[in-house]
Amino acid sequence: MSEKDRKLESSCEACVHRRKILKGLIGVAGLGASLGFLASFGTIKPEEKKKGRRKINKGDKLVFAVGDMANKVITVDSLPVGKGTLAYPKGKEDHDNLILLFHAKYDEFEKPTKLKFVTKEGFAAYSAICTHMGCTVEWYPNKQFSFNFPHLFCPCHQSVFDVFHGAKVLAGPAPRPLPQLPIMVANNEIVAAGDFDGPIGPLPGGK
Ligand code: FES
Repeated sequence: MSEKDRKLESSCEACVHRRKILKGLIGVAGLGASLGFLASFGTIKPEEKKKGRRKINKGDKLVFAVGDMANKVITVDSLPVGKGTLAYPKGKEDHDNLILLFHAKYDEFEKPTKLKFVTKEGFAAYSAICTHMGCTVEWYPNKQFSFNFPHLFCPCHQSVFDVFHGAKVLAGPAPRPLPQLPIMVANNEIVAAGDFDGPIGPLPGGK
């Protein structure tokens, strides 16, 4: 594990602890086997994230944020259908620019997802910063709790977001959906088509 991965993994020990407990419970319930595709992304303390960020511009390439492919540009072929990953815009690896990119079938997406922000290959991207208190959201491609479909999950207080319906909140204390990032494919690479469509993370007053 790289130093960067280690930092992501360890930066919110309480969150990681909660996630371990949760995973244990899931395993006891017999659901653990369904999590083989789980991309474990780590969590980050909310106070570490308020450092500002550089705006994401059209044409910014997305790179893997963690794992063996960290810092490599994400291509259409490097993230198969059913997979998700944390990503950054290349050269703008600010914490608030952390992105959750995932690959599904295009016709699975429905409004309020902004379909023009989804590529015809089925790539979609959201802010990975939870709108509750700013922990890092994870991609759960399989069944968990009563959600028998892929979803985004925040391990800090168990907020669940609907990947196919604009990352709307399905459960937990998050007050808002995750902002969506417009993306497109250029030269077989996943690139931004602009900046997030809303404010990132928790707002003052917890809205
Ligand atoms: S920080 Fe995500 S649910 Fe609380």
